[in-house]
Amino acid sequence: MSDRRRLLPLLGQAVHGSRSAMTCLYRCGNACDHPVPNESDNPYFTDVVNSGMSRRGVVRASAVGALVLGVGGAAGGALLGASPAAATPPGPDLAALTPSRPKSGNGALTFKPIPPNRLDTFVVPNGYDHSVVIRWGDPVVPGAPAFDVNDQTAAKQSVQFGYNNDFVAILPLHQHNKHALLVVNHEYTNENLMFPGFTTFDAMTLEQIRVAIAAHGMTVIELARVEQTGEWEVATKGKRPYNRRLTALETPFAFTGPAAGSDLLKTAADPKGRTAIGTLNNCAGGVTPWGTVLSGEENFNQYFVGGDGVADEVKPKLARYGISTTARYPSDSRKWDRVDERFDLTRHPNEANRFGWIVEVDPYDLKGGQRKHTALGRFKHEGANVIVAKNGHVVAYMGDDERFDYLYKFVSDKKFIDDNSTVARKHNLTLLESGTLYVAKLDSTSADEIDGSGTLPSDGAFNGTGTWIKLVRGNTSYVPGMTAAEVLTFTRLAGDAVGATKMDRPEDVEPSLLTGKIYVALTNNTNRGVGSNPKADEANPRNANRHGHIVEMVEDRGDNTSETFTWSIPIVCGDPADPSTYFAGYDKSKVSPISCPDNVAFDGAGNLWISTDGNALGSNDGLFATAIEGPERGHLKQFLTVPLGAETCGPFITTDNQSVFVAVQHPGEISGASLEEPASNWPDGDFAKPGVVVTWRLDGGPIGS
Ligand code: FEO
Ligand code: CA
Ligand code: CA
Repeated sequence: MSDRRRLLPLLGQAVHGSRSAMTCLYRCGNACDHPVPNESDNPYFTDVVNSGMSRRGVVRASAVGALVLGVGGAAGGALLGASPAAATPPGPDLAALTPSRPKSGNGALTFKPIPPNRLDTFVVPNGYDHSVVIRWGDPVVPGAPAFDVNDQTAAKQSVQFGYNNDFVAILPLHQHNKHALLVVNHEYTNENLMFPGFTTFDAMTLEQIRVAIAAHGMTVIELARVEQTGEWEVATKGKRPYNRRLTALETPFAFTGPAAGSDLLKTAADPKGRTAIGTLNNCAGGVTPWGTVLSGEENFNQYFVGGDGVADEVKPKLARYGISTTARYPSDSRKWDRVDERFDLTRHPNEANRFGWIVEVDPYDLKGGQRKHTALGRFKHEGANVIVAKNGHVVAYMGDDERFDYLYKFVSDKKFIDDNSTVARKHNLTLLESGTLYVAKLDSTSADEIDGSGTLPSDGAFNGTGTWIKLVRGNTSYVPGMTAAEVLTFTRLAGDAVGATKMDRPEDVEPSLLTGKIYVALTNNTNRGVGSNPKADEANPRNANRHGHIVEMVEDRGDNTSETFTWSIPIVCGDPADPSTYFAGYDKSKVSPISCPDNVAFDGAGNLWISTDGNALGSNDGLFATAIEGPERGHLKQFLTVPLGAETCGPFITTDNQSVFVAVQHPGEISGASLEEPASNWPDGDFAKPGVVVTWRLDGGPIGS
């Protein structure tokens, strides 16, 4: 069917990085074409020269301390990066959960890097293989019908695999290392590539809109290992009781935390403000040490219309989240209000407040039990990743993926109970319901040397100190003029008020369970230093930042609950030949070019893996890995690339180091493409379908090293 492929004529229409205009429209509602939502004039960067003290020595010392604690609470099971405790039978086999602690994290990665390319295929290193685990439309619930692109209904889509898979998690299930649960986010839909004959949103049938709504959300599905290899496939035998879809059509999510039940969350359909229907635009996420999945609701703004008709005092609160308050139907509107009036803010102004949260899904809970945790704040959540601090409190790190928005962390009131009993798990499931929410302020050591070119300052590093500014704990607000419920529901405004640091699109923020250090993927920000926008600072050191960078944060005393930290930039992305790039001082002739880091993950050896979104160097997106400790720190190598038009999402490396899972999101999403005239034929040779892929090493050796 490759004769149907329409390729090169479509490639010249990138608008931001290599992102096609089509991706900008469907994925983020053209966020980058709208004014920057953060118009606050908060003093975003303060030069604190830090009284001449060398923070680098502090970093080293605290890392050692953190190493012990990071592993203690949140060590992986034999298969995954977390250890779920007892669940309703037939839940995880406890024998499969023997802690498999990350090793040194400083070993060389031995795979031979693959070159940048523009192939419409999935490329892995020599000696590795890959297979498609599941793709859009595949049956999820046992008995679900086979996919028929010409006969799509909402009822079918509600039991089939959704569209545009993003975050991927693998959790163990009964028989030791032979079965697992795959949990996947479905971030958004591309109606142009989904429906035969699509022309405009206005021309869609109401049933097609319902299909699109059902294609959002999440999937839980049982996998089986293929013999003794690192390959996994969808399980086809047995009852598979955990298989389910969570959709925006009908799945209830209970609100927890201080804003639950507040007036800000009440609607006509939910007068108590306690239960939202559905989850939307779920981007990245994380696995908790108690075996649940966290998922971030990101660009939820694009699903709402009628922002022009709300009360004047509400408009700034919508606008700060990117919702138009001047047009009933923004040009990119999907007009879901045609099938569900709750998406019309003129009629239901609080409905938008019920999205933009971190949701927690317990894949082992046969009754559902999914929740939205208000204690973790409301913004365009990329995801959340959890570590157990050495004092037992649970810490979640989070990014707000928008140009000039902020980094956050949450510290639980209660402590993690590290045992596999049902009682302990019940307790741990409440940990994200109460705690303290902070926003980050990053201070500079060399502010007067930052010129926006990416030139390293004379002290040899982009680095500094930082403060976690307390926003709210329980019902106590620390932001003047805002109640606790307001701080949690309009968290961006709270960050503005306290002078948080404006970052270059903070996406995944993930602690290493080996060291306790935190890694932040800052994708890009071509508006940095342009016009009246903030100029480069030491934490965002390049103006017109096209390629992004990675920030490493080290909490003081190795205590993840600390309110102070140090930070540095180990990787400034781009073509290594570009003098503004930096790879922790490693020989740049030996590293792979990388652009637009999005998601980060760690393998069982503690190496850092980075996936990209929107490669602005002309290659397809991909997955990269580097040691992050020891002499190989900065030796970044490209492990795989995804097909044309796609983004690499949700990397998950099993801690047995046998399998790398990635989500291939929006293959063929290149302007001008359609279902009938696809720009990619992946994965089946006909029209493009998002899907999850597993990669493994043919000789059975460990991935990467
Ligand atoms: Fe959905 Fe921030 O990427
Ligand atoms: Ca992302
Ligand atoms: Ca991640």
